[in-house]
Amino acid sequence: MARVALVTGSTDGIGRATARALAAAGMKVFLHGRSKVKVDAAVVALQTELPGADVDGISFDLGSLAAVRRGADALLARAPDLHVVVNNAGIFANERTLTADGIELTFAVNHVAPFLLVELLRDRLLASAGTHPSRVINVSSIAHTRGRIHVEELTLAHAWTGYAAYAQSKLAQVMHAMSLAERMPEADRSRLVAYSLHPGVIGTKLLKQGFGPVQGGSVEQGARTSVRLAVETTPVAASGAYFNEGVETQPAVAARDAKQRAALWDASARLAGL
Ligand SMILES: NC(=O)c1ccc[n+]([C@@H]2O[C@H](COP(=O)([O-])OP(=O)(O)OC[C@H]3O[C@@H](n4cnc5c(N)ncnc54)[C@H](OP(=O)(O)O)[C@@H]3O)[C@@H](O)[C@H]2O)c1
Repeated sequence: MARVALVTGSTDGIGRATARALAAAGMKVFLHGRSKVKVDAAVVALQTELPGADVDGISFDLGSLAAVRRGADALLARAPDLHVVVNNAGIFANERTLTADGIELTFAVNHVAPFLLVELLRDRLLASAGTHPSRVINVSSIAHTRGRIHVEELTLAHAWTGYAAYAQSKLAQVMHAMSLAERMPEADRSRLVAYSLHPGVIGTKLLKQGFGPVQGGSVEQGARTSVRLAVETTPVAASGAYFNEGVETQPAVAARDAKQRAALWDASARLAGL
């Protein structure tokens, strides 16, 4: 039976290339985005590029916790097995916005939504693990090294810049993978592993929006680490590891602060309504 993956934000950029590579490797892939029209178009395009590929689409907005809950329910109804979740979707905002849930938009889309999604899908991921562990793969960024978790004021009311919000959210994603690993009950450790990664500087609309006319690498290059971590049968790195363009690397000092990780976990769970 084919292994099954969800790749969030796979209507464009690195996520789209990741979904294509996983489908080409024989996995059943759920493409995801916020727009049903774009998701449907991406599914058709992929089926045309890779005849016989087993791809399906699911759309929900990561900027709404209610939508994430509905999306997870819909996915659980359509995916009796789920082995891989690639939390790839991401934004770089140019102005400070709060979601209807009262969460700063960058933090909501890049961290709180994937945090909630993993909790909602966790039992399915655990139950689907066969001889090899299921996995959660967080597409973070090297920008996490410039991040600080403002745990008392995560909306950055007095400290917001697009970069500060982006770096905080990317640091949170690295800490999320580490926390998933360390909080995993002993009995589940061989059934679910978590990683985070920097995909490289890649020429996408996010790069342009956040960093201007920077020359970036190809989306295929950006997908490489996620694809490897998703398809390798026996994971080579310990759960919680961070990769910089395919190379296992120490994450930033801020991510290695266990007290901060615990505080972030509690705050994330509270924000996610768990
Ligand atoms: N590009 C780089 O150099 C770079 C470097 C480091 C890390 N990263 C990370 O790589 C990941 C992928 O980014 P990318 O560069 O490939 O960007 P991208 O081309 O802009 O793709 C982002 C994807 O996320 C989706 N998305 C955005 N907001 C969403 C929402 N509210 N709900 C659901 N889906 C949403 C987008 O959908 P739409 O098509 O509808 O917009 C798109 O499919 C991000 O997490 C980013 O932080 C990128």
